[in-house]
Amino acid sequence: MSNRLETAQKLASNVFAMGHGALIPKVICDHGEGIYLFDQDGKRYIDFSGGPHVVSIGHGDKRVIEAMTEQMKKASYFFRGFWLNEPLLTLAERIIKVSPPNLKMCWFCNSGSEATETVIKLAHQYHAERGKAEKYLVISRWQGYHGMTLAALSASGHTGRRSKFGPLLHQWPKIGAPLCYRCPYDLDYPGCHIRCAQELDEIINQVGSQYVSAFMAESIGGAGTACMVPVPEYYPMIREICDKHDVLFIDDEVIGGFGRTGKWFGIEHWGVSPDIITSAKGMTGGYTPMAVVIIDQKIGEVFHEKGAIFLHDFTMAGNPVSAAACLAVLDIIEKEGLVERAARLGEYFFQRGGEKLSHHPVVGDIRGKGLLMGIELVKNKETKEPFAPTLHVANRMQQIAMEKGVLGYPTTGVDNGVRGDTFLVSPPYIITEAEIDAAFDLLDDALTDFEKEFL
Ligand SMILES: Cc1ncc(COP(=O)(O)O)c(C=O)c1O
Repeated sequence: MSNRLETAQKLASNVFAMGHGALIPKVICDHGEGIYLFDQDGKRYIDFSGGPHVVSIGHGDKRVIEAMTEQMKKASYFFRGFWLNEPLLTLAERIIKVSPPNLKMCWFCNSGSEATETVIKLAHQYHAERGKAEKYLVISRWQGYHGMTLAALSASGHTGRRSKFGPLLHQWPKIGAPLCYRCPYDLDYPGCHIRCAQELDEIINQVGSQYVSAFMAESIGGAGTACMVPVPEYYPMIREICDKHDVLFIDDEVIGGFGRTGKWFGIEHWGVSPDIITSAKGMTGGYTPMAVVIIDQKIGEVFHEKGAIFLHDFTMAGNPVSAAACLAVLDIIEKEGLVERAARLGEYFFQRGGEKLSHHPVVGDIRGKGLLMGIELVKNKETKEPFAPTLHVANRMQQIAMEKGVLGYPTTGVDNGVRGDTFLVSPPYIITEAEIDAAFDLLDDALTDFEKEFL
């Protein structure tokens, strides 16, 4: 083992809870270039996980580095309350241009979880300013994921991630996920009449619409449901139910935003406009922490008419260097047509993924959209029986794939919030067809080894 690696491994004990759950890193990330990351020995890995879901324009893009450097030379930080922040104002204007037409204002923070916290408070204050201060409940979905902070975790129906923190969480109502592969109601589409959407109406009636502030959902699923794509009727029904009950529809596009699914925002695949969008990962490309809340004009107007202040802020939010980075990322996405590219390549990605992986006995389902794919790993393909959670097979799949030189993101809980392993892949939008083939070949090989270990 090299001295450098040995030193890093020793230093790791200084960092509490290093790694990702039970997944502890064993190698150093030395540098990145395009779709590749390199370790301390120069070994090359295809970043097929894109972060997870963060790396949109590829690693090490000099244009972003230059934009950040230029802004740092001018001013790295100044307080939002004292100065107009030009890069941030331009960023807001540019984001609004690519957002659904009713969304006319941006609010910035540093992470997806912060964005979720923000919208929970924003939705409640919006109702309160309209004389409906009793509206506070946020309804969301089982197996949904909106972040790790307390309100965000309360809105996340991910049983595993919630399990140690129960007493700290709000016990807000949840509905079943629109995941046909594991329909929570044991029904079949279209005979189900979209029971998963109807349940929202029922639960709002049960708890009383006067208490319900918002419904929150990831347009296309992320970690909890492994890139679940609801049926075409789903979001139009959700929109109608929310309108009927004066409930805001909050669309979590932390993963799905800024081109990942082949549209600027995943919800566009349904032609539906939410009242609020949260987004983060792809807009940063991984160059900086940044998240955005994009808000319907009607919400802004209520605050404006009442002269109300939104008492919610973070010191580092909207940092000008981060804004400059995101602007450069947006420039590249737009100039290089990367959203259209993600849509076009997405077709190839799913075709090749199906051809190269679906023959494996452990691959139960492959789902997703654009360059966002979830691969569900099952013990029994016929019965869809998951592996025992104690085996941590998704983590093991990540390790085997990484040894082969390809990165993917392991997740659990798709079956009941605890059981059910999945492996997510979401490469940078600049990936080529040949590189997609190479990555799937490595995953094919990794799955063969995985099967030798677990079947
Ligand atoms: C859909 C979704 N929302 C919110 C979050 C939380 O974002 P962050 O990890 O930046 O706090 C995530 C993180 O993966 C996510 O996937």
